[in-house]
Amino acid sequence: MKFAIVGAGNIAQLRRAAIEELPGCSLVGAYDIAPERAAAMAGDGTAFTSLDALMDAPSIDTVIICTPPDTHEEIATAALAAGKHVIVEKPMANSQAACLRMVKAARKADRVLTVGFNHRYFPAIKDVYQAVTSGAIGTLSHVRGYTGHTGLSEFGAEWMYSKDVMGGGALMDNGIHMIDLVHHLMGPVAGVCGKAMTKVWNLDRSEDNAYALLTGADGVVGTLGASWTEWKGYHFYIEAYGTQGMARAYYAPMRSTIITMKRPGAAPVKKNNFYLPLIFREKFKGWQSTAIQTFVEEMTDFQALVAGRTPTGHIARAEDGYRAIEIANAVYSSSDSGRTVKLKKDI
Ligand SMILES: NC(=O)c1ccc[n+]([C@@H]2O[C@H](COP(=O)([O-])OP(=O)(O)OC[C@H]3O[C@@H](n4cnc5c(N)ncnc54)[C@H](O)[C@@H]3O)[C@@H](O)[C@H]2O)c1
Repeated sequence: MKFAIVGAGNIAQLRRAAIEELPGCSLVGAYDIAPERAAAMAGDGTAFTSLDALMDAPSIDTVIICTPPDTHEEIATAALAAGKHVIVEKPMANSQAACLRMVKAARKADRVLTVGFNHRYFPAIKDVYQAVTSGAIGTLSHVRGYTGHTGLSEFGAEWMYSKDVMGGGALMDNGIHMIDLVHHLMGPVAGVCGKAMTKVWNLDRSEDNAYALLTGADGVVGTLGASWTEWKGYHFYIEAYGTQGMARAYYAPMRSTIITMKRPGAAPVKKNNFYLPLIFREKFKGWQSTAIQTFVEEMTDFQALVAGRTPTGHIARAEDGYRAIEIANAVYSSSDSGRTVKLKKDI
């Protein structure tokens, strides 16, 4: 598969490294509003000087969008209209309406549009997902997750905490991965209530902390928190509880615990998973090595989707990207009104 990248910044570097590891795949072009970045990214491929020129290039099968979220819709719809498949980085866009238009554009063009929820490919998360979907922990009761980092010092540019560009604060940044993971594990969400706060950084409409309670159509409950005031550094976990056990993923370092039992309260069987090759790799090559590996797996699934084969079940479709933004927006709306927001079943 021949890829082009739009937006040649930090995440694009990792995407390019992943393409280089994928058999039969190559990066054939790049575009960035900063031409020197496009040139550095494109390497032996074409550094396009306009988005239109990139869209007109027949050699490109798939466009990967790694620009700020307020530009995602325009680039994705142009690519889909030009007959390209699209991978768009998270969050899918900066508004629910934009995401909906992107979903519809992909359907109209009959092209594949997926969203970069690469945390689904963390080995610990895959083990939790397997414990839930296989029934190993019994019938799912509830899911809870949390993601936090230290906030403004994490960001390389002001747009990364701008409501106008991102569509929100912590919930649209690290939180959007957590919303997606809770949704991925618990299934369809019917109602959302929550609170978004701006007490610490006092940013204009970009929350520094948010908490949400999600109710599933079948009585499953999900709770999640997203924070930009995790003073101890990056903290991330997600847990699923069932009638016969629980499964927990934690990062960093990557680890998981799966506890199963024959009936509620019976003797627990505990399995701790330590992902030692990954942990050693990160020691020498940083967290980026894990991100690259998740992109390799995600793009392998992506190729299966394009080829009409069945992917592994982890890849996030356009509808998942839309749902995550819908849930984040429902938290904002619930935070303002103090009410539970009901979500529509169909997109
Ligand atoms: N999957 C993840 O965990 C993850 C992690 C970090 C960032 N992201 C997402 O990736 C995207 C990019 O983030 P980043 O950290 O790489 O940002 P970045 O600032 O490092 O790179 C963005 C690049 O886009 C370019 N750009 C801006 N507007 C453009 C336009 N209209 N057309 C073409 N190029 C344009 C900029 O010049 C810059 O080179 C964002 O959506 C971000 O949320 C995802």
